[in-house]
Amino acid sequence: MRPLLETTADHAIRYLETINERSVAPGAESLRQLSRLDEPLPAGVSGEAEVIRMLDEIGSPASMAMAGSRFFGFVIGGSLPVALAASWLATAWDQNSALYRVTPATAHLEQVALRWLLELLELPAESGGAFVTGATVANFTALAAARHTVLENAGWNVEADGLFGAPPITVVIGDEAHPSLIKSLGLLGLGRERVVRVPVDGQGRMRASALPALRGPTIVCTQAGNVNTGAFDPIGEISEAAHEVGAWVHVDGAFGLWAQVAPTRKHLSAGVEKADSWATDGHKWLNVPYDSGVAFVRDADALRAAMAITAEYLPTATPHRNPADFTPELSRRARGVEVWAALRHLGRAGVADLVERCCRHARRFSEALGDAGYDILNDVVLNQVLVSFGDVTTTRRIIAAIQADGTCWCGETEWQGRPAMRISVSSWATTAADVELSLEAITRVARADQQAQRNPQRLEESNEGRITSSRRSS
Ligand SMILES: Cc1ncc(COP(=O)(O)O)c(C=O)c1O
Repeated sequence: MRPLLETTADHAIRYLETINERSVAPGAESLRQLSRLDEPLPAGVSGEAEVIRMLDEIGSPASMAMAGSRFFGFVIGGSLPVALAASWLATAWDQNSALYRVTPATAHLEQVALRWLLELLELPAESGGAFVTGATVANFTALAAARHTVLENAGWNVEADGLFGAPPITVVIGDEAHPSLIKSLGLLGLGRERVVRVPVDGQGRMRASALPALRGPTIVCTQAGNVNTGAFDPIGEISEAAHEVGAWVHVDGAFGLWAQVAPTRKHLSAGVEKADSWATDGHKWLNVPYDSGVAFVRDADALRAAMAITAEYLPTATPHRNPADFTPELSRRARGVEVWAALRHLGRAGVADLVERCCRHARRFSEALGDAGYDILNDVVLNQVLVSFGDVTTTRRIIAAIQADGTCWCGETEWQGRPAMRISVSSWATTAADVELSLEAITRVARADQQAQRNPQRLEESNEGRITSSRRSS
């Protein structure tokens, strides 16, 4: 076993050590090589070393360099080396971390990680929590607790009797709610479309004044950090209004909840602690490896009521926290171990520095691109920048050229009817030098495109250049 694991570690280390020397997006030749995987199911055993060699040889070059320092797509953090190392060790432990009595080490680590998260994010210390796969499932988990409570208050036991014949629940969301939150509502039987949508402003913030009159079992879903602009709903104000009529307030804070940790950003999430439940990601701003999300619920009993099960064969009785009492899954890996490692390493100051640094880099991107004459479509309050290069066709063409250039990777979006490139700075690994290198590439590619549009002959030459550069990088 030792040579196999040591060789694999060597492959992984070499991958990470050289990640910034390659194109961020995989090149065309690397993608073509993926067809080597399309072989028949092997009839018999083949050597382990050969399997890993194949994985590295074919898989590594065809991967997107998300672990590198110049990937700015979606909202994707890298992996802190300490969190990656913890993940390796915990994977070697192979703990099915459902119950404390069976897997005490991982259950205890998750208990500590949860306590630290609540302290760091300044959420109520008594809250229950669940380590799950990501914000989508964290939203689902927290909203299951919300559904439990608002129906229990109306005299209905939703876990026992389901939603057939239950009192209707009013669900309120902002017009800019993330689609994964809406999906969670669908999974819970609350409907993706049967929601009351509240209008938003130019940054995507719910207008608190447009909140409808609330009555009966009600869940209000707010957002800390819009996936495009980084903007925050006025959560404190909404919570106060909603609580007056006994409604439940949930916060989707996939990445924005981390503003709580950063002294210069904390004003954005003001009042977030007034809500009843929160969802966030570990794999975004805390930079632990995929996949990792966390749900927090102020009333831990409500979360347990929505999630816990018992069975004759399960040793559930313990004075400690059984992880699976709070999660949709029974069998599960202990995602909290990597969260523990990241927090144990960074401490409060380290997490604050990580968040502040990403925000500073985002600000530099927006200032430099604005100075270069491109439109910045959002108020850059956090780590998200929306830049437009003109009309849809031009913006899309330039984004594709930037991706093909390979220096960095940014995705596309549409913001309130305008096409844009999204820059999300979410990785511990990104340095000021990476930002300058990426800015040079973005402006070079955008200018070349503009010149080529004026002179089609140059368009052909610039396309040639792109192909050559992507070949080189593959
Ligand atoms: C605000 C918000 N909510 C939810 C999600 C979904 O998170 P995940 O993909 O980790 O499930 C995202 C992802 O970017 C997000 O930005």
